[in-house]
This record gives sequence, structure tokens and C-alpha cells, in this order.
Amino acid sequence: MADSMISLRNVSKRFANSTDAAVDDLSMDVYAGETVVLVGPSGCGKTTTMKMINRLVEPTSGTIVVDGTDVRKQDPVELRRGIGYVIQSIGLMPHRTIASNIATVPKLLGWDAARISDRTRELIAMLDLDPGLLARYPSELSGGQRQRVGVARALATDPPVMLMDEPFGAVDPIVRARLQDQFLEIQKKLNKTIVFVTHDIDEAIKLADRIAILNTGASIEQFAPPEEILREPANDFVERFVGAERGLKRLALIKVSEIQIEQGPVCSPRDSVADANEEMERFGFDWVSIVDDGELLGWIGQRDLEGRPRLTDITPRPFSAYVTKESTLRHALDSIVSSRTQVAVVAEEGQRYAGILTLERISREIVS
Ligand SMILES: Nc1ncnc2c1ncn2[C@@H]1O[C@H](COP(=O)(O)OP(=O)(O)OP(=O)(O)O)[C@@H](O)[C@H]1O
Ligand SMILES: [Mg+2]
Repeated sequence: MADSMISLRNVSKRFANSTDAAVDDLSMDVYAGETVVLVGPSGCGKTTTMKMINRLVEPTSGTIVVDGTDVRKQDPVELRRGIGYVIQSIGLMPHRTIASNIATVPKLLGWDAARISDRTRELIAMLDLDPGLLARYPSELSGGQRQRVGVARALATDPPVMLMDEPFGAVDPIVRARLQDQFLEIQKKLNKTIVFVTHDIDEAIKLADRIAILNTGASIEQFAPPEEILREPANDFVERFVGAERGLKRLALIKVSEIQIEQGPVCSPRDSVADANEEMERFGFDWVSIVDDGELLGWIGQRDLEGRPRLTDITPRPFSAYVTKESTLRHALDSIVSSRTQVAVVAEEGQRYAGILTLERISREIVS
């Protein structure tokens, strides 16, 4: 079992002025290097949960351990310096420049000016922001730029743990998709332990190693990898949350390498026309892939064979598209429905032939 980086045990929070617990007996582990995404209806306790991890809110009962230490045994200010926090609504300081906002924690830690400036430039590059923005104020940036500055600020001192509360909430779908791709790229390199909140289930599916679907009082309805939540929603609440097109969403999470592919009709350019006809018949196809010593040269149709004594006299036609083992089944499905042959050909780097994927094979993954 991997190491638990953040561990919550029977954690509850009752605010003084309300009868119901905002968080009611929540237990959950987040392992080192994983991204856990919390989703759930407004007011279900997501932000409260995050704030208890960095002690912006004190739990009424229960225990929270971060990196092996009970958070109550740490000075809250020290604790927060070690945890990157992107707050809901970004929260940049309006009267400070972007550079100064990013440098908040490094300054508190007493870094010298040269080190702060180097780090700021590094972060700006990582998040694809223009250095010209550094001298501006938050109100002079677009929503998407502000969100990136929020992420840069949280990353400034390279903390191992990040809490991100709807960090991409305020931007349009295109910018959002770009920020998500950037997030995945950065996370691949930095391998942080991340708790991420979103209202967007597709964002959760894309970014999470595991998704926690929460109900009122932060009660866990299901806590599992996206693929499992889509394949087997634990109950009606989860099913409603996941929404329509569950099967198609799942295809985007499965790689071609994870399923058994078929061999498909194959001939060598040195085979006879009779061999080619036989191979097509065997598979019930009207075309055959031409593979020379493992290398995919293209395909030949039944009609190309007419009046030709040998396959070597026929130039194979290139496939308009093929997929690799790293492609998702969603991509393979696109390739199938847009190809004349209604089949996706799978090839490895250097055009090494691997096999074919049919619609029937993929639909089995949708229903299973
Ligand atoms: N300081 C507070 N005092 C009293 N009640 C609070 C306080 N902060 C939050 N609450 C209540 O606790 C519950 C959980 O709030 P929380 O902010 O954690 O929800 P959330 O899941 O983050 O919601 P959203 O998706 O809208 O951001 C809500 O009912 C909220 O009204
Ligand atoms: Mg919230």
C-alpha cells in the first residue's frame, strides 16, 4: 500500500451558528503523489474539509495527519507555508502586483530577492504566462490569467501538498481545457499530493487519480478511480452526478493497450492473390492489411486484385488514420466511425502493425 500523505479520521466540523455538521465523521486517505478530486453539491462541505487540512478551520472532533504529523501539533502558520493553497475565487491581493502576489510565501520565508525573482520567472514559464504581466495588478488580468497566477502562487515554495479549491472555476471551457492539460503536464513532473475541488464532473474524470463523490455533511457516496465510478456507480446519487454518456466518458479513460485486440486480415507483399482472397474470406472483409516483416505498408481492396497476378504488382493504399496502443478507446471509436472500413488499425511507432479494433469489440467495453 502506498503511503498516506493526508489522513482524515472521523473528522467533524460543527460551526457555532448552525445545527447540522458541515462535515460529519469524515475518514479519508490521500496517498503521496496522487490527485484526489472532491465533487458534490454546493454546501456539502468540500471547502470546509480543505480548510481543516491546513487549519484555516479547526475540526470539532477527529484527527488529521499530514505527512506523518498531527496537524494540531504544528504551528498553523508553519503548516500553511508547507501546503500550497489555491482558494475558491482565487484571492489575489488586489493592491499588490502579480510578482508580489506570487512572492507572498517566499517573502515570508525570508528568501532573498534574487532567489524570489528566479523562482517567479520559473513559475511564469511553467504556467505559460507572459513575464510582462508581473508588473500589473490582478484587476488588469483576464480570469484565466488570474487563475494561473493563483496556481503559481500556491506552487511558489514547491510544497509537497496542494489544496486546490475550484482553481479553474471562473474561465470559459476552452481556457479551462488548456489549464487542465497544463495541470496534468505539471503534475506528471512534480508529483504533488493534491486535493482538488470542482463542480465539473468531466474535469474530475480528466484530472483525478481518485474521485470522492460527497453528499451533505461530506459523507462519502463513492471514493474510487474515475474509471470505476463510470463503470460501476455505487448508487443513484453517484449515477445522477456522473450524468449522461457514462459509457462514452469511460472510453476516454481506457487505452488500446489495456484491451485485447484482434489480429485482422494480413498478407505479406510476397503472398499470392489467392492467399489474399483467402485471408479476406476468413475474416469476412473486402480488404487486407499488407505487412512486410512487421511493418504496415497499407491495405489492398478485393477489387484491386482483379486482373493482377501478384500482390507485388499492387501498391498498397495508405490508411487514412490509425491508432496506437497509447490511444484511448474514445479516439479509436472516432477512427472507426470515420473510416471507410469501419475498423481501426492499430500500429506502433515506426508503423509496426499490431492488429485491428472493431466496433463490436469497443461496444463490449461500453456495456461492461
Ligand atoms: N464560517 C462558517 N460559519 C457557519 N457555517 C459555515 C461556515 N463556513 C461554511 N459553513 C457552512 O458549512 C457548510 C459547508 O460549506 P462549504 O463551504 O464547506 O461547502 P462547499 O461544499 O465548499 O460548497 P460550494 O460548492 O458551494 O463551494 C455549508 O452549509 C455552509 O453554509
Ligand atoms: Mg466551496
